[in-house]
Amino acid sequence: MKKSIECLFLLLCLSVFSEAQTLPKRGAAKNFYQDQATKIKVANLLKKMTLEEKIGQLVLFAGKGMITGPSESQNMDEYVVKGLCGNVFGTKTLADAIRIQKLAMEKSRMKIPVLFGLDVIHGFKTIFPTNLGISSSWDIPEIEKFAQVSATEASAAGVMWTYSPMCDISYDPRWGRVSEGSGEDPFLGSCISAAMVRGYQGKNLAAPNSIMACVKHFAAYGAVQAGRDYNTVDMSERAFRDYYLPPYRSAVDAGAATVMTSFNEYDGVPATGNKFLMKKLLRKELGFNGFIVTDFSAINEMVPHGIAKDETSAAELAINAGVNMDMVGNTYLLHLKKLVQTGKVSMSAINKLCGEVLGMKYRLGLFDDPYRYFNEERFKTAFYKPEALDACRSLARKSMVLLQNNNNLLPIPLNKKIALIGPFADNQREMLGSWAISGEAKHAVAFLSGLQKRYPTITYTQGCKFTSEIPNGFEYAVKAAEQSDVVLLTLGLPYEWSGEAASLTSLQIPDIQYRLLEKLKQTGKPIIILLVTARPMDLSREIKLADAVLLTWQPGTMAGEALADIVTGDFNPSGKLTMTFPLTVGQVPIHYNVKNTGRPEGILGTKSSNKYTSRYLFTPNNPLYPFGYGLSYTTFDYHDISVEGNPIKIGDRLKVSATVTNTGLKDGDEIAQLYIRDLVGSVTRPVRELKGFQKVHLHAGESKRLVFNITPDNLSFCRGDMSFGEERGNYHVWIGGDSNATLESSFIVR
Ligand code: NOJ
Repeated sequence: MKKSIECLFLLLCLSVFSEAQTLPKRGAAKNFYQDQATKIKVANLLKKMTLEEKIGQLVLFAGKGMITGPSESQNMDEYVVKGLCGNVFGTKTLADAIRIQKLAMEKSRMKIPVLFGLDVIHGFKTIFPTNLGISSSWDIPEIEKFAQVSATEASAAGVMWTYSPMCDISYDPRWGRVSEGSGEDPFLGSCISAAMVRGYQGKNLAAPNSIMACVKHFAAYGAVQAGRDYNTVDMSERAFRDYYLPPYRSAVDAGAATVMTSFNEYDGVPATGNKFLMKKLLRKELGFNGFIVTDFSAINEMVPHGIAKDETSAAELAINAGVNMDMVGNTYLLHLKKLVQTGKVSMSAINKLCGEVLGMKYRLGLFDDPYRYFNEERFKTAFYKPEALDACRSLARKSMVLLQNNNNLLPIPLNKKIALIGPFADNQREMLGSWAISGEAKHAVAFLSGLQKRYPTITYTQGCKFTSEIPNGFEYAVKAAEQSDVVLLTLGLPYEWSGEAASLTSLQIPDIQYRLLEKLKQTGKPIIILLVTARPMDLSREIKLADAVLLTWQPGTMAGEALADIVTGDFNPSGKLTMTFPLTVGQVPIHYNVKNTGRPEGILGTKSSNKYTSRYLFTPNNPLYPFGYGLSYTTFDYHDISVEGNPIKIGDRLKVSATVTNTGLKDGDEIAQLYIRDLVGSVTRPVRELKGFQKVHLHAGESKRLVFNITPDNLSFCRGDMSFGEERGNYHVWIGGDSNATLESSFIVR
């Protein structure tokens, strides 16, 4: 008896309590950027500025060679001097940024400091894993830290503004840009987008290592049809509000200073000219008080979209939708003055939009010291500091996902002889991924170098290139395999096949790489695939041949070190997928939080003999790996779910608890997930929705009681009448290790 009381006490002490604490308060955005002191300064400055100079603050030029779109800015210096270009995107060197700032401060009439922005997407010099990988860590404090490290490095190089976080939910791995986001789930995506804003901006924008965040791509860009980049988006407002809006909103509520419009249309109107999105939703409903920048030439693109007859009308649409800044398109530069003179755009609109940009320059402290981000001494020692590299290594290994591990092949004892093979094995550039503008491949630790330190007998041979043979490549690979105890085979997609303008219609590993795997299989040696990719892939063929598969993503600067930590077993893998891995590209778009339909089939592995259900003729509905999935070197068991406070009233909170036990032989981290289902609603509801998660560390044999707090916000959705809130009814709740969790209970909202 005494013993069991002690045990109970121990369990209670070990309870881990979680709620939606990682999400900022809904509506908090209304309180940001409202300080009177700045408003007065801005108003006084505006009084002294000409119309042309005001327009200049709404113009963003691209630095030389900084092209991520179809056009390039010309004669920047001249425009800066005339006060017609107030903002610059991507200067290549610090010296260049200083030179441009000097032009503004010494030669322009108003001496308004230039704002410098850059795509700092998953790191500045120290490159972290690609963002989809980062999200697979589910580690909110470390994600915040990653953004903080990025801001610290970028700000030392004169960058005051990053175009991140990318908040686009997507269900379509054909779309190359899934690599830049946090996957398919609105709740997890919201936790991550807010953490990134906190990390970039810190507590005070004026701190020397804080930079402005930019929430992008507003809105719904992740739903481009057929996964083709820049394509049309067409969805109901309800789906948009429930599934796509949350991560943008959460980032705005966390205080994001800026928002970027998306290329796509929303409800028939391109986002950049869409008054519903920009004015009604973002400004009014969400209370956003920062400034809005277009994506690269997105105003000009409203002409081919077929919503504006020429660039003058396109500029009119954008400015009247409340879009502050034109990225590289020159439409504001060339047409705004005329639009004001002809009465199509009001002077008060220009003052408001210009004032919002100036307000941010004040808050960054640029008017106090325009050179505050240009400290050459700081620049010399700002990069690859131990703290940054440690954070990078930690997040890289936490982001890796163990997909398969037959017979516990991983970890590999140090005395084993490894043959490392494949086109990614000794490639530093490939480790950095597609958004590494300032990253330097020479600083990346290749897989081979990382592993060599721990396994001095390791051998390496390339085998093949990404899509083609190399002379005797297979022959050498087979020889290396035959002389080894175990093969580590790196397979995947080159980095240029992910990111912007990198849509695919096949999710399979390139054929030559698959053939290399087949060949190596014939040696009879155990094979571990190290998968390098920035998007979910169709691995149906490979998992039949490989004994183990470790998804490494594009792991960043510390790739080899992080990989070696996992291969040796020094670190027990804990990453979990944030995007479903389909069985075949034919199942795409695919996600876990689907609707049941009137003829459900195979949602969680159930199979019906009835042909007339919602299914495919020859392929199951289930994916290869579901959302939330990932293995460990140990095993976890969930049991004893209980619901406290049931039934609840609308507006009440509810506690749901379960015990998780480490049932294996190794210590490890587990990402415990809570899902709910609202059984009957005024509109149909998803079969599962993630509403909580927590990371727990458990020693072998240890148990912890996990407590999740379900809030009214968790239960709210876009109801039948389009209002946001809860509904009465019956709910199911699950706690477990992935979106197929089976430990179930229920509760009632009265
Ligand atoms: C276009 C991309 O869509 C956007 O994400 C990026 O920030 C801008 N180019 C600037 O590079």
